Amino acid sequence: MAKSKTVFYCQNCGYESAKWLGKCPSCNSWNTFAEEVVTKEENNKNDWRQTSSKSKQNQPRTLNEIDAGEEVRQSSADEELNRVLGGGIVSGSLVLVGGEPGIGKSTLLLQVGLKLKQSKVLYVSGEESEQQIRMRADRLQDSSKNFYVLTETNTKNIFSAIEALSPDIVIIDSIQTLHSSQLESAAGSIGQVRQCAAEMMKFAKETHTPVFLIGHITKDGMLAGPKVLEHMVDTVLQFEGDRHLAYRILRTTKNRFGSTSEIGIYEMLGNGLRQVSNPSEILISQKDANLSGVTIGATLEGNRPLLIEIQSLVSPASYGTPQRTPTGFDHKRLNMLLAVLEKRCGFRMGTQDVFLNMAGGISVEDPAIDLAICISIISSMEEIPVSDKVCFAAEVGLGGELRAVNRVEQRISEAEKLGFTEIYISKFNQKSIDIKKSKIQVKLFGKLQEVFQDIF
Ligand code: TYD
Ligand code: MG
Repeated sequence: MAKSKTVFYCQNCGYESAKWLGKCPSCNSWNTFAEEVVTKEENNKNDWRQTSSKSKQNQPRTLNEIDAGEEVRQSSADEELNRVLGGGIVSGSLVLVGGEPGIGKSTLLLQVGLKLKQSKVLYVSGEESEQQIRMRADRLQDSSKNFYVLTETNTKNIFSAIEALSPDIVIIDSIQTLHSSQLESAAGSIGQVRQCAAEMMKFAKETHTPVFLIGHITKDGMLAGPKVLEHMVDTVLQFEGDRHLAYRILRTTKNRFGSTSEIGIYEMLGNGLRQVSNPSEILISQKDANLSGVTIGATLEGNRPLLIEIQSLVSPASYGTPQRTPTGFDHKRLNMLLAVLEKRCGFRMGTQDVFLNMAGGISVEDPAIDLAICISIISSMEEIPVSDKVCFAAEVGLGGELRAVNRVEQRISEAEKLGFTEIYISKFNQKSIDIKKSKIQVKLFGKLQEVFQDIF
């Protein structure tokens, strides 16, 4: 007879406790503990001595004895997805696609599934009705004879449907709606999410079928955050972007089969997501000539060079404490750059409101954008426009010095490709480039002030 036992889980991070706690000792969030019933088997499965004597034994082997096997990858019609997965969908992999509600996760996977015309795709939805999915597919103006839809949340029923259909790819929308009869707790609780993911994992590995799991991330911790899943799955893709802006970024945060520094860029249109293969062109296309405060920074997003338009607006502060409002950039880093401009270059920033905006709703963490931001701020303050044929790639240090950035050749060649005539970089990057080879004029400087003198 199975004995039932209850434990308390933090619904935010999955921390387990025998009694209720007000504050989670692991993630420090308040009031997130919920009681869940876990059915305990009579013989403890976690006892390795018992399991090891019963199950068939694996002997330790040296690496050379192990057959390397072949990593089977299937290419999807979506180049951006292939890129973030490291070259295609790996058979037997479990991929988690996370993101805030409404960002477009269902649309993305429906679109990918519909484009895989040769493979049998099973789309399991616990969130939408068959009609809703049909309507969405009509909206995407695509259909496939091999695309099957199942609206079901019980994992046992899902597996029996899978057995009958034997699909090549399974998409689960979403993991938080699944329910396993192994546990008594409600769907979406940490215990259920973990259990259902483990069942899916077992299925994927045993049948070599790739499984995509959609997971919601909510800030208020109402649903179990997919954080607990991250170490179970093979690949974690994060779908991000501002819901009100058209651009979406698919970012790899974990990948057992490839690099984690890849991103895919999409644009949400009326008929689905469009792949953006050359993002720089869109991000800087709206530049109006002779507008002060606009500069172009040569950044890297993952492994891809990306030229981004930066806009700033500097105006005299009307209140005692000036406002500093960056969009798509770190607030503290902006404060630091303003302090450098004040202290090292002598600009009176203390009496100015500064608003900073990255075009296209993209958020930038690459420090190479620093120089472009500084130039943009001063351009707005002094009302002097910067030529739209110039771009920048250098980090600014606390002493006002320009610091070297990584992969500078890649940034230079992207700028060259897009028709820029000049790029400003740090003189410490000189070693890593071959200036004579490039058509674009590469300007090397050691100090922020020298750049100002050159431009303004
Ligand atoms: P959805 O895929 O339902 O988001 P998620 O599954 O991440 O919750 O996408 C929701 C948004 O996408 C919705 O606000 C409408 C928009 N959308 C489009 O703009 N164009 C389209 O073709 C589709 C299908 C959706
Ligand atoms: Mg959805």
